[in-house]
Amino acid sequence: MTSSRNFALIPAAGVGARMGTAFPKQYLPLAGKAMLRHVLDTFAACSAITHTFVVVSAEDGYIADMMTIAPALKDRVTVLYQGGESRHLSVLNGLKAIGNLLTNDDWVLVHDAARPGLTVALIEHLIDALHDDAVGGLLALPVVDTLKRSEVLDDRKPDTTGTRVRETVSRTALWAAQTPQMFRYALLHRALVSALDGAKPITDDASAVEMLGLQPKLVEGSPSNFKVTLPHDVALAEMFLRGKV
Ligand code: C5P
Repeated sequence: MTSSRNFALIPAAGVGARMGTAFPKQYLPLAGKAMLRHVLDTFAACSAITHTFVVVSAEDGYIADMMTIAPALKDRVTVLYQGGESRHLSVLNGLKAIGNLLTNDDWVLVHDAARPGLTVALIEHLIDALHDDAVGGLLALPVVDTLKRSEVLDDRKPDTTGTRVRETVSRTALWAAQTPQMFRYALLHRALVSALDGAKPITDDASAVEMLGLQPKLVEGSPSNFKVTLPHDVALAEMFLRGKV
């Protein structure tokens, strides 16, 4: 099992509606290069990663130019034009596309294109923590804030004038999930296929594995590995990427 290789799979087929940019947020320039390029450069620079696959939409008009100006990525990254309607489907399409290149026991590290603050050290930390694990796991951070659930159920459109608290949620033993999320190929594929039948949409890979009755391991991540989602995240991401915080 320990001889299993590590592959990265980057779902990058989202449109990033919450960012409000005219183009998909993974191409937003941050500290001199596109958000997605930061992620690909980091995986390409990590010797523990055998190869990286990035899943974009069939209509993506940006990645070809990005790969042209980054010749160092040519041998380290393969683009798959097979994005799906959700992150779940984009990851699954990517797994299907690479199925003949990986063994069932090879590890797949699924990482969101929208987390440019990932570092080689964090990837190595995750692999060190999980390379012998029976299930796999993910980077995550213990929740430190007191959590409130509001009356507004659509978290994509928070009411900027304020909304009412419905309840306080205990933060005890709560973690905020990050990526990469690292599972063996066969288990991840089985989990994501099986989750297609679930009533609720899944927003990460670990929850599909949990639905099989397994318990992924939580490995401490970093605040710098946050998901760039809203316009005000951009300045913070640039500070991290320029090494100012
Ligand atoms: O929208 P959100 O930030 O949750 O997306 C997480 C990741 O999933 C992003 O890297 C995004 O590009 C990707 N995604 C995808 N296919 C979709 C929707 C999102 O690959 N249909």
